[in-house]
Amino acid sequence: MQIKKAVIPVAGFGTRFLPITKALPKTMLPIVDKPAIHYLVEEAVNSGIAEIIIITGQDKKPLEDYFNRSKALENHLINTGKLDLLEMIKKISSMAEIHFVTQEEVLGLGHAIYCARRFMNKDEAFAVLLGDDVVVSIEPCISQLIKVFNNYQASIIGVQNVPNSEVSKYGIVSGHNVTDRLVKVGDLVEKPDEESAPSNLAILGRYIIHSEIFDILRALRPGAGGEIQLTDALKELNKTQEVYSYIFQGTRYDTGNKLGHLKATIDLALQDETIGHDFKNYLIKMTSHSR
Ligand code: G1P
Repeated sequence: MQIKKAVIPVAGFGTRFLPITKALPKTMLPIVDKPAIHYLVEEAVNSGIAEIIIITGQDKKPLEDYFNRSKALENHLINTGKLDLLEMIKKISSMAEIHFVTQEEVLGLGHAIYCARRFMNKDEAFAVLLGDDVVVSIEPCISQLIKVFNNYQASIIGVQNVPNSEVSKYGIVSGHNVTDRLVKVGDLVEKPDEESAPSNLAILGRYIIHSEIFDILRALRPGAGGEIQLTDALKELNKTQEVYSYIFQGTRYDTGNKLGHLKATIDLALQDETIGHDFKNYLIKMTSHSR
């Protein structure tokens, strides 16, 4: 089995980022000069994925516009001789085969993933990259998980340790270590209390999932927060086949909230070839004054 498809769920009202998300889907907010969704698609493409299914809310038009070709803009760039910019924007439209699916009702992450079922074969595994989670790493995060999948042919959940005080924000896994970074999953729980959390290994928005998950999701009842939870479906899957979690390398940002989005912006601006150097000097100057 090879991983050739990715699902990127981006539906949700973006309430942590109001008021801008009243008019713009949260994954269209820029991190330096590209929308957050660009980094996710790029991560998938750089991991060998050719087909991407984006699950949107009712506001998919800006996303479609971003990935579709714009003949008018292309002609303008040709006529004005801006051929480097022309190349750049044409590349965006040819990155991958992208399908958009509207999640008619916001019933939870599990339901969003279920909306991708018609794109998957019976015996297949696919990648999932959550729209709010941007990971900056040397090797793309999903590529790290695909490598593990290639060895085990089992579902793999991307995790990292978080402080105990933060476990209630995440799906938490526990199990026993196979290697330093690989844990065979024993249990999974969505957003546990600090006191009852089985570990502090948090699911951070990257998965490789076997397509059998769709049969489970079809029958799943709402869990935490009254939503159909992907974590609950994975817990069911773990009863019939092996599921692993992998402590990936890289920095994960929750770009669905203001602080996380700003941290990602600063990290990626510092790495930017055109502004990185000047921006670093500016930050040094800013932080050396007590304000
Ligand atoms: C979702 C998942 C959760 C995971 C988190 C990572 O929660 O349900 O298991 O830990 O994403 O960002 P959400 O943040 O959508 O509530």
